[in-house]
Amino acid sequence: MGVIEKAGGSVHNLAAKRANKHRKKVDPRIKAEHAFDLDYAKLAEAGYYHPDAKASQLALELRAVKRRLLRRIGFLRASGERQSHRMPGRQRNLIMVTSARAGEGKTFNAVNLALSLALEDQIETLLIDADVPRPRVRDRFGLAAGPGLTDKLLDPSLNIGSLQYRANQAPLSILAEGARIERASELFANEDCQRLLAELSTQTPDRLIILDAPPVLATTEAVVLAKYVDEIVFVVEANATPEPAVASAIDELLDINPNLSLMLNRCLIGAGGSHYGSYEYYGPGGEAKSAMPSRAEGVCNEAI
Ligand SMILES: Nc1ncnc2c1ncn2[C@@H]1O[C@H](COP(=O)(O)OP(=O)(O)OP(=O)(O)O)[C@@H](O)[C@H]1O
Ligand SMILES: [Mg+2]
Repeated sequence: MGVIEKAGGSVHNLAAKRANKHRKKVDPRIKAEHAFDLDYAKLAEAGYYHPDAKASQLALELRAVKRRLLRRIGFLRASGERQSHRMPGRQRNLIMVTSARAGEGKTFNAVNLALSLALEDQIETLLIDADVPRPRVRDRFGLAAGPGLTDKLLDPSLNIGSLQYRANQAPLSILAEGARIERASELFANEDCQRLLAELSTQTPDRLIILDAPPVLATTEAVVLAKYVDEIVFVVEANATPEPAVASAIDELLDINPNLSLMLNRCLIGAGGSHYGSYEYYGPGGEAKSAMPSRAEGVCNEAI
């Protein structure tokens, strides 16, 4: 059972309280025009998380994914309790979502994780669109065109707070991709990028930062970013991503960062494959285990 469910009360009252609470928390450096409303209906129409659908398959699977992820990065104790205090300094709060190839569900899962963490668990979350060649986060949230990550990297004097969008209903901020540039990997390889991510990580130790990255086999950005992040969530599209592609992409990442979990997307579960599930983890003994290189840590699906 999720935190919000435990709290009880009517959905509408909770939603109103949440909205007020987070309105007050908005970073004062963020300009008013950068506050936005989450359009739950539009997101749900595209298959994304909806805060009222607490018992949906997606919500249940997201809870299992989050619990595992939060434990791995030290946000949750083994008992399942939230760590009451995160020590200042370098935090394990930078998470990159990537996959082997295009279209396997990176953005879908990065957005859903961010929505679910912010809306259900009230965890301060920053979602960064680091997929400069194929940015999708701005569209998903209906945000207007404007500067973002690449602009900050090209001009470090820009105020990072003023580049972010802040949701009115939840502790969720978004940093969009920014200006289109040809070789984002060169920009990401620059020490300014490492510095920026380290600053974002330490600035707010209780905040989770989720980077929606490009696919590993298409460009070099994800491999460059792998150096800076604390955890990699590697999305595998069930029955679609060829095993050699998974193995070669994961091998590249593991050479740089051993903290990698696999997330199986679009898997069919239930009797006769009739039930559609959005998330599944590879677990010991899981049916897709053969696609998991021996060095990757598999995670199993557990309900909260
Ligand atoms: N589990 C899922 N359930 C329903 N729709 C999904 C699921 N996973 C992905 N999709 C849809 O499939 C399409 C491709 O997914 P998505 O954009 O997340 O892939 P991607 O890996 O980010 O692609 P790209 O490499 O182009 O950035 C999108 O329309 C997305 O909404
Ligand atoms: Mg994407």
